[in-house]
Amino acid sequence: MPLTKAGREYKACCPFHTEKTASFWVSPEKQFYHCFGCGAHGTALRFLMEYDHMSFPEAVEDLAGRLGLPIPREAGNPADAQNAPLYELMGRVARFYGETLTQDARAGEYLRRRGLGGETVQRFMLGYAPDAWNAVLSRFGAHESERQRLAAAGLIIERGNGRPEGHYDRFRDRIMFPIRDSRGRVIAFGGRVIDRGEPKYLNSPETALFHKGHELYGLYESRTGGGSFKRLLVVEGYMDVVRLHQAGITYAVATLGTATTAEHLKRIFRLVREVVFAFDGDRAGRSAAWRALQHALPEAREGREIRFLFLPEGHDPDSLVGAEGREAFESRLEGALPLSEYLIRELSGQSDITHADGRARLAEAARPLVARIPPGVYRELLIGRVAEVIGLPAARLEALWQDGAAPPAAPAPVPPPRAGRSAGRGSLVRQALARLVRFPSAATAVTDGERKGLEGCTEPGADLLRALLDDLRARPLQISAQVLERWRDKPGGEHLGRLLEREAMLDDAEASAVELRAALEKLADLTREQRLSALAAQSRTGRLNDAELKEFQMLMSRKSLRGDKSGPQ
Ligand code: CTP
Ligand code: MN
Repeated sequence: MPLTKAGREYKACCPFHTEKTASFWVSPEKQFYHCFGCGAHGTALRFLMEYDHMSFPEAVEDLAGRLGLPIPREAGNPADAQNAPLYELMGRVARFYGETLTQDARAGEYLRRRGLGGETVQRFMLGYAPDAWNAVLSRFGAHESERQRLAAAGLIIERGNGRPEGHYDRFRDRIMFPIRDSRGRVIAFGGRVIDRGEPKYLNSPETALFHKGHELYGLYESRTGGGSFKRLLVVEGYMDVVRLHQAGITYAVATLGTATTAEHLKRIFRLVREVVFAFDGDRAGRSAAWRALQHALPEAREGREIRFLFLPEGHDPDSLVGAEGREAFESRLEGALPLSEYLIRELSGQSDITHADGRARLAEAARPLVARIPPGVYRELLIGRVAEVIGLPAARLEALWQDGAAPPAAPAPVPPPRAGRSAGRGSLVRQALARLVRFPSAATAVTDGERKGLEGCTEPGADLLRALLDDLRARPLQISAQVLERWRDKPGGEHLGRLLEREAMLDDAEASAVELRAALEKLADLTREQRLSALAAQSRTGRLNDAELKEFQMLMSRKSLRGDKSGPQ
């Protein structure tokens, strides 16, 4: 990208949205980019992932390659080198199937009848496995070592004892769908019978290259399809993917005859922030959707969008996009149910929420599901939504869920002390977080006492602050970009990048550490005050136990000591 120098930073027209005046900034010092127009931001790694649609390991490899740096790898994993001949073989066999397709009138006619054009066939490297027991075997397996390789790749099967010929082709008289990994290497095949026959689809077995529960059919084609690649649509079948791509929906992928796994979700969210699952409208589709929801919960968080689309009965994505075209299909996608709404809808359907009993049952059913969502804004919002449906204040519902029993008699509500704000600079938590991200080494200046003062702090974001502070004290880092990468997939990680740009900060590491510690101290004061007023309120109802009483007295004396020192206010 053409970057123009502007003071200590560089600017350019943002590559992530259309604009005429430059609002995209790159800071060499922070190792960070940020667009004031669309909010895109991140490190060099994130840039490659967003702009070139690389996965995280690919981005690492790319950058290391440019700099000539070796990549440390976990010991005992020379898998890639060992598997190189297998990858190579799979590629050759895929090309062979591709050639046979052009020579077989019946197979070609079948694909035409299914509405596939030549360009799509090429893009997906579709092929045809001849109607013979040894087409691949005789062509690629002249020597024993080659036969071993074919067997290891799952392309041939060993006959039972006593037969003269040792092996035969796994795929015979089938339309072949090569499954490619993120780098485009063929790692497996799916084969469909032409017209009727059993089984309808035959897949490669698990091999050294292919782990079914991890792979998504069409992911490589989606990333390289030239579309904007901001979201993924997860469907069930090979044909669905191919037909959707042909219709211009170039972000469709399929799980390979398995349910959506947690591993799938992780892969998806390494690449995009938005996913829509499409399911048949029938009962099987609904139960598959509910299973997908359960796997998706641990991945749900702010900044991510997970939605569910239910197709009209009797349709799969292939037939639907064929019947109504891209625009109508995409407008269905726009209307897909967000995870939260799907969850509420499903649970409300199970209980009669016009009665207290039904609402209580709904709350009970929601509880373990909500517990699977990592703590953060998203979870809070969902708790709020459940609370709304059952007609309780959110805080009360959460308290009930946490106690797991009836709540103690509620103390008289006392207004909490003013939240931890100092004029115009964001909350104290926010200030502290921003300084930690900007100068992570400041964490090492924080004392144990200062850290302890944060215990019990309930300000929004306090969890993140404690976690980040502990992390950086235990494993110090030097620059912001390192913090962002370490926290990329952790709850709150998304938030940290935004803080770095939004908060006005000193550009001086030492001064910043001083500000950090000042913010921590104020937070500790605030936390003590809040605790004190809570205990005071409780004491009015005469419910303090011995430990609480002691704590109350300690806090009181501390307060008056401080009051003496700082004089009357
Ligand atoms: N599948 C499979 N093995 C089978 C049947 C299905 O692995 N014996 C997987 C395939 O990935 C298939 C998907 O499940 O694409 C969905 O199967 P199905 O709905 O039966 O087929 P379609 O994808 O609709 O294929 P087509 O339109 O060609 O009938
Ligand atoms: Mn179909």
